Amino acid sequence: MAAPVFEAQDLELAWGDLKVAEGISLAVGAGETVCIVGRSGCGKSTLFHALAGLGKPVSGRVLLHGEDITGVPGRVSYMLQKDLLLPSRSILDNAALPLVLRGVDKRAAREKARELFATFGLEGTEDLWPAQLSGGMRQRAALLRTYLMDNDVVLLDEPFSALDAITRVELRRWFAKMIGELGLSALVITHDVDEAIDLASSAYVLDGNPRKGVVTHISDEIAIDAANSDAARGRMLEALSLS
Ligand SMILES: Nc1ncnc2c1ncn2[C@@H]1O[C@H](COP(=O)(O)OP(=O)(O)OP(=O)(O)O)[C@@H](O)[C@H]1O
Ligand SMILES: [Mg+2]
Repeated sequence: MAAPVFEAQDLELAWGDLKVAEGISLAVGAGETVCIVGRSGCGKSTLFHALAGLGKPVSGRVLLHGEDITGVPGRVSYMLQKDLLLPSRSILDNAALPLVLRGVDKRAAREKARELFATFGLEGTEDLWPAQLSGGMRQRAALLRTYLMDNDVVLLDEPFSALDAITRVELRRWFAKMIGELGLSALVITHDVDEAIDLASSAYVLDGNPRKGVVTHISDEIAIDAANSDAARGRMLEALSLS
């Protein structure tokens, strides 16, 4: 891998007294998509919360281009597990929100967001409400909003999991292409092994069950390429105990 653009070094994570994970180290290279897989409740969203700077890890560091950003929000773009579009704002205003929050004038924010609607396959939806969009379109709108947070690293928490199988495959292929065109590096949580194979050049497997006292750690790191995709799929399924 080229020098990593984004790194976690030996993170320990907790919610109050609940120790969730320890020894979490990972790296994302420029232009790479890296997946995080692991069973429900093991701490994937908790990890993203810390990587996005929304909470401080108990110990360890988060580095962006080598700079320590541990506990600093806003330096990487983050799409939450639920798309959370605001129901009473138009798609255009939802997309423009990160710019407005940064202090960009509303009209300029709308213009900048509007320019990207075609790129994100959302042309014609500018004035609709979120409820008027299909699930796939809502996810595109959430991805556009995440993109407008304007960082070169994006963290996406199960971005396609709420979609039907066909839309999911379509959207992730589109996403893989987009991410390259936009020059982003991505860390993507998924439950779907095929999704990891399709999107990522490597995957980290998280294993543990903090509620049962088993602190989560990284149990495997799997390189993925066309030549080894069957072996990589097998290793991930085994790690998820689904084989
Ligand atoms: N805000 C919170 N306060 C206290 N505990 C939390 C909080 N969020 C998550 N937890 C606990 O941390 C552990 C990890 O939860 P987390 O949501 O990170 O799992 P996950 O791997 O993302 O699961 P899923 O695949 O179902 O989304 C769980 O035991 C959960 O109950
Ligand atoms: Mg989660």
